[in-house]
Amino acid sequence: MPEFSAVPELSTADSWEDVVPVAELAYGGYEHSAEYHASAASIFEPKRSVIARTGGRTCGTCAVYSLEMTLPGGPRPVAGLGYVTVAPEHRRRGVMSAMVRRVLHTLHDSGAEAVAALNTTEAGIYGRFGFGLASQAVKVRIARHAGDLRVDGGDRAVRIGGPEEHAAAIAAVYAQCVGERPGMLRRDAAWAARAVLDLPDHRGGSGRLLCMVAEDEGEPSGYALYRLTSAWVDSVPRYEVSVRELFARDPASGAALWHALLDVDLAGSVVADRPVDDPVLALLTDLRSAAPVLRDQLHVRLVDVDRALEQRGYATETDIVLDVTDPLCPWNERRFRLRTGAEGGECRPTTAPADLELTARELGSLHLGGTSLVQLARAGLVRELRPGAVRAAATAFRHDPAPFCPVVF
Ligand SMILES: CC(C)(COP(=O)(O)OP(=O)(O)OC[C@H]1O[C@@H](n2cnc3c(N)ncnc32)[C@H](O)[C@@H]1OP(=O)(O)O)[C@@H](O)C(=O)NCCC(=O)NCCS
Repeated sequence: MPEFSAVPELSTADSWEDVVPVAELAYGGYEHSAEYHASAASIFEPKRSVIARTGGRTCGTCAVYSLEMTLPGGPRPVAGLGYVTVAPEHRRRGVMSAMVRRVLHTLHDSGAEAVAALNTTEAGIYGRFGFGLASQAVKVRIARHAGDLRVDGGDRAVRIGGPEEHAAAIAAVYAQCVGERPGMLRRDAAWAARAVLDLPDHRGGSGRLLCMVAEDEGEPSGYALYRLTSAWVDSVPRYEVSVRELFARDPASGAALWHALLDVDLAGSVVADRPVDDPVLALLTDLRSAAPVLRDQLHVRLVDVDRALEQRGYATETDIVLDVTDPLCPWNERRFRLRTGAEGGECRPTTAPADLELTARELGSLHLGGTSLVQLARAGLVRELRPGAVRAAATAFRHDPAPFCPVVF
């Protein structure tokens, strides 16, 4: 029999060191370098993060980050969850459930962020806690033929070097692009450093991180972070160019970067996770050969349905009554009247008859504007009680362009 209690004691953390032993075990026993830990510690917020202990020993961790995320309507505070780990000998006894519940209830009780978000190692974990899949990425593998794009590379200069020498250009372009898509995160110095973090023990046999910067009249107008992995097939070089980030201020800069990536010496293909509506998908003459594959990205949870729905923007006017199911956060279990318009949304409790029945998880899916309410209704996940309500709300909730987050936190 285990010598510890099945009920964990929860507290805030003192430092990143509280997380390390359990996280290393839960993620497979890998030991990380001092540089890795220094980076993780630089963004760690101990007083917001939860540690679980049983029998006086740490058995679980859940980091909480104060993020600023672009939502439909503009940048808003969002609580990011990361390093949700449970020591292997304590797994499947409710430790994670207790920690996630604590985080959500604390956010509500303290009136902090109305929305939480996370990336997940395994896609099936967080739906039970009301997190809905809110953004997706499409992975493409583009063969190295510059002629496969519908536009040429133009005359933008493209400079190549290490990310450190292009730090100012990266920061300038990112700052111009961060507001374009829901899901994007504002970066302070610590988060900006993580975006170019290049730990030798994490390269997995690939080369170091490189950076291309496109310039328009001497000013940075786009950049790509990428690395090469060597591969030879029958003595022919077929290196993989793996893109970590690519942002461009204008179509010409984007085309210049893609052409430069597709023209890297020794390369056989360029591989990238891109937004589902990324311009490069329209530029490919042969989308099929790029073998696009969808995957889940951000999972979003509305901590307080009313506050969250009032914080985001909407594409159209609508007036709709939502009947929300949310057993984990019972303060959300009620009917809300949501009125939306160009100025935003007003969301109030109501006793009026419901137009739509849905769970908090579905509202999380809809929050970044990338999920179709029509799709959720056709899947039987949203119930329409007033004819036309699904269509009206679907249009209001959608956002163009689609959400995307290049960072795993
Ligand atoms: C994932 C992890 C945190 C789960 O912790 P845990 O304490 O075992 O989880 P709980 O006991 O609270 O499980 C609650 C429920 O989630 C389910 N669950 C747990 N891990 C799951 C997984 N990986 N996939 C699907 N369901 C999972 C449990 O079966 C349980 O289901 P039930 O409510 O129907 O009984 C833990 O296994 C772990 O540390 N894994 C390795 C690190 C990792 O991947 N962390 C997630 C980072 S996003």
